[in-house]
Amino acid sequence: MLSREDNELLCRVGPGTPMGELLRQYWMPFLPSTELAKPDEPPKKVRLLGEDLVAFRDTRGDVGLFPVNCPHRGASLFFGRNEECGIRCAYHGWKFDVTGRCVDMPSEPEDSTFKDKVRARAYPCHDVNGVVWTYMGPRETPPPFPPFEVTTLPADQVSPPLLMLEECNWVQALEGDIDSSHIDFVHAKVRSDSARRGTYHRDKSPRLDILPTEYGACYSARRRWDVEGMSWHRITQYVLPYFTMIAASDPSLVSARAWVPLDDESTLQIMMRGRLDRPVTEQEQRQARDPFAAWGGYLPATSDPRTRYYTKANLHNDYLVDYELQKELVVGIPFLVNLQDRAMTETMGPIYDRTREHLGTTDAMVIHVRRRLLEAARALRDEATLPANVDAPGLYRVRPASIILPEGESWVAATENARQSDAGVPIAWVPFAS
Ligand code: FES
Ligand SMILES: [Fe+2]
Repeated sequence: MLSREDNELLCRVGPGTPMGELLRQYWMPFLPSTELAKPDEPPKKVRLLGEDLVAFRDTRGDVGLFPVNCPHRGASLFFGRNEECGIRCAYHGWKFDVTGRCVDMPSEPEDSTFKDKVRARAYPCHDVNGVVWTYMGPRETPPPFPPFEVTTLPADQVSPPLLMLEECNWVQALEGDIDSSHIDFVHAKVRSDSARRGTYHRDKSPRLDILPTEYGACYSARRRWDVEGMSWHRITQYVLPYFTMIAASDPSLVSARAWVPLDDESTLQIMMRGRLDRPVTEQEQRQARDPFAAWGGYLPATSDPRTRYYTKANLHNDYLVDYELQKELVVGIPFLVNLQDRAMTETMGPIYDRTREHLGTTDAMVIHVRRRLLEAARALRDEATLPANVDAPGLYRVRPASIILPEGESWVAATENARQSDAGVPIAWVPFAS
């Protein structure tokens, strides 16, 4: 449970809010590169941390990201012409390059130097492995770019990102990823022999053990394994401020999920996945571009960023719940990416009122992560200090794990190397849902 005040502090990310200021200290993934497929195409609207922006790819291929309102008199740069290394406002023709420099001001006299005094606020962008990232913070020189495994693998080994728009606050969406106990309910099948994709474990009450780290935390959710005397540890990473790496279930896949707040009430899930062993096939790429195809896919988007990656199955049609399917699965929604999770987190309301909840032992990681976020937001606001991972890129070189150990053996010691990207050991993994 949180006080009303702490819940507000935790959830609100607009300009000037303490949590918004914390999130602005980090590089943030916000758009798949395919949205800005070619140079000089019309700009796209972007909404991020409650700000309305426009993004465009200039003639050289560089990405620009500006507040939507033109620095002259505020007309929308969405109507701007993206031409010859800059965007030209349609209203009076002022033109800006990706750095925000005003490079042409044809409405003023030819001998005017006014254009040298005007700048657009430009957020630096970095386009890597299929995802465009930006830095919206106060520094002139952004902090180091986060070298996650998925951002540093060769491009052909990385899938297009999996994307899902969620109509709720980013924190409740994020909390679903650090809550191992739900896998035995909302992702489960009713009978172990069902052919439907779902989990089925006999031990449905995991014991959580949290390891706080400089970059956030990781935790083990321990269940009794089917073999007497053995325990199964699902070890998930949380990297400040909104990245997760779910317990490993494949020998070659590395991933990082981001729960990116478009504003206080809409979140874009960006799941980045790469392979250590080989390039991604064309079929795998196709699947990643339309991951919800089996349940209606995405609805056509308008220019509004909140309509992109919005699935046909959604809050307003109960996710097309199917009671026939529900005879085999706990919930009558298929286990497709995070659709089942979303049905749980969106229905909490746009910003869940945490004064009303009742937390149990399996919510320990949720409690820890909230505390870390609140502490970090307050430390920035009150003491101007930042979490270590803003400036220590090595802290992003981590992996999740999943491992079966004799009862009583320390998961922390047993996975010391497996939790490091660069320790030269294989991924520690256990198959997950079938
Ligand atoms: S408002 Fe953009 S050039 Fe005038
Ligand atoms: Fe889940």
